[in-house]
Amino acid sequence: MNCNPLQTTLQSPRHSIQLKNPIVPASGTFGNGSIVHSLYDINQLGAVLTKSITVEPRSGNPSPRIYETPSGLLNSVGLENKGLPWFLEEVQPFLLSLETSKWVSIAGFTIEEFETLAHVMDTLPIDALEVNVSCPNIHANGVQFCQNMAVLEETLRRVRKATHHFLIAKIALETNPLSQALDIIEQENFDAVCIGNTIRGIAIDAETRKPFFHKIFAGLSGPAIKPIALRVVWEAYDSHPTLPIIGCGGIQCASDVIEFLAAGATSVEVGTLNLVDPFILPRLIQDLETYCCTHQIDLPNTIGSAHHSLR
Ligand SMILES: Cc1cc2nc3c(=O)[nH]c(=O)nc-3n(C[C@H](O)[C@H](O)[C@H](O)COP(=O)(O)O)c2cc1C
Repeated sequence: MNCNPLQTTLQSPRHSIQLKNPIVPASGTFGNGSIVHSLYDINQLGAVLTKSITVEPRSGNPSPRIYETPSGLLNSVGLENKGLPWFLEEVQPFLLSLETSKWVSIAGFTIEEFETLAHVMDTLPIDALEVNVSCPNIHANGVQFCQNMAVLEETLRRVRKATHHFLIAKIALETNPLSQALDIIEQENFDAVCIGNTIRGIAIDAETRKPFFHKIFAGLSGPAIKPIALRVVWEAYDSHPTLPIIGCGGIQCASDVIEFLAAGATSVEVGTLNLVDPFILPRLIQDLETYCCTHQIDLPNTIGSAHHSLR
């Protein structure tokens, strides 16, 4: 069989993006790629995805920001970034010099901010825009954009109008009702969904008996959330089989990637593991290639195969 079995295509009715392999760094765990590029050639990745950018610079949350759990990480970074003008000046040239798929993540605290970011990004020759609708809406008491269906619809509609790019909606794993959110993502002509972001948790300092984080709540990531992310990918593929899914949550090894693909994902994003081992992504690609060759499979036939096995 063909031993370049890792190619995968995110195909929507309007657009398609071909990736050399399904491995993409999750936003916020890879910087903007330039530091990692000094360790290895990041052009071998399926895509490079930048940290979520906001219109204004943000200093993020006060420390402490990270709490390790036995099987994951709680983070309270608070979308720290240097803002849009800095992105255009400092990150854009590096990103556009890459020879793999170039994805940018945007985050807004109002619908207008999302619209502005999409409008500006429309002028750049990037391959996809990931819209982080799992961040809090300051006009709705901090409720995440993806948790209020009317707000989600309005946000996606205005972003879609502002840009012709391939659009990915990144939703929270707790999005409810999931099926309605996916209907909206399809109806508003988004091209793919990323499932998902961190899950809200808290830590308490047993010495002081006070919350560990200033903001009390923090986002849980890493292996602890994998079964939940896998379940949400499964449900999304079951109800919306033609919407391309990018699976994300707790991936550590090639067999985790295969599990996400079999549940219905077309590609995956890997987050926390980059913080543990900056060389993990090329190793995952190599291990995935070995897996496909030894099991005589290719990726297009793996996508959704756990569902097909039940028929
Ligand atoms: C330190 C840290 C920073 C993150 N920053 C962002 C971000 O800026 N934008 C975003 O969409 N997700 C962000 N995330 C969420 C990840 O992209 C990913 O969705 C989540 O961590 C689950 O994947 P994982 O279990 O592989 O880490 C961040 C996660 C971590 C741990």
